[in-house]
Amino acid sequence: MSKTIDGNAAAADVLTRLKVAVKQLIAETGVVPSIAVVIVGEDPASKVYVASKGKTAKECGFYSTEHALPTQTTEEEVVALVEELNADPRIHGILVQLPLPDHIDSSRITQTIAPEKDVDGFHFINVGKLGTGELDTAFVPCTPAGSMLLIERVHGRDLSGLNALIVGRSNIVGKPMANLLLKANATVTIAHSRTKNLPELCRSADILVAAVGSPEMIKGEWIKPGVTVIDVGINRISAGSNGKSRLVGDVAYEEAATKAGAITPVPGGVGPMTIALLMANTLTAASRAAGRAVALELAVIDAWR
Ligand code: GUN
Repeated sequence: MSKTIDGNAAAADVLTRLKVAVKQLIAETGVVPSIAVVIVGEDPASKVYVASKGKTAKECGFYSTEHALPTQTTEEEVVALVEELNADPRIHGILVQLPLPDHIDSSRITQTIAPEKDVDGFHFINVGKLGTGELDTAFVPCTPAGSMLLIERVHGRDLSGLNALIVGRSNIVGKPMANLLLKANATVTIAHSRTKNLPELCRSADILVAAVGSPEMIKGEWIKPGVTVIDVGINRISAGSNGKSRLVGDVAYEEAATKAGAITPVPGGVGPMTIALLMANTLTAASRAAGRAVALELAVIDAWR
């Protein structure tokens, strides 16, 4: 049986260290880190995520605001709100929860966020900085950053000689994950829906990152014994005939856990790390705004510079 990678414990660890750094920043500069979260529409999962981000921000001692807009809000109205937040010196980080309703161009909204407040790391400037290794002034997307910290718990910071396979090529997870793994010296492959022989490719991986959004798609028999599995998927499926549901990842956990060396559960794996890293990015934004180039004593994040 494999070792479960406890994302709740890892996230608590990051947040404990972060809270110390927040107190220090406030004591030394008077700057209170702040985040504005924008949500448009009624997507139930998005509402849960946004509530959780706001709650954690408050626990960290941040000033946090939530802007909940109705589904019919126009693209121009969202742009206007983001521009207002860009210009507001009290706000250090801005996050617009995705997905946005279909009539709004998500890319335009993402690119309207000022790069220095883009705590999601989705702005082209931050994407480019990550791709070229300019991490001193970049923001790294929260889910890949959190996943890297979980991998680090198993393998340390240097992944030289290890084959990493990422299943999924999204801009939010797959591509930035590839950049982080490369920076840590892993040999990286990205697989996706058009990839041939996915089971075989999976069997060649030492580190397998699943980020496809397809419930339990990756089977236990695809997994080489001893592998580290990072399951980014959070899929709600029905559980029984009484209308109940449960969350599962992209990996068939029960099967995979018998073979993997280490594996993240769903829930309680990558999810809590995403929120913890959002808080770390917000602290970074506030620290930079206060004229401190290096935000924190979170050594784990320093390691990517
Ligand atoms: N929706 C799902 N994941 C994310 C994320 O990391 N950031 C934002 N803004 N929206 C999301």
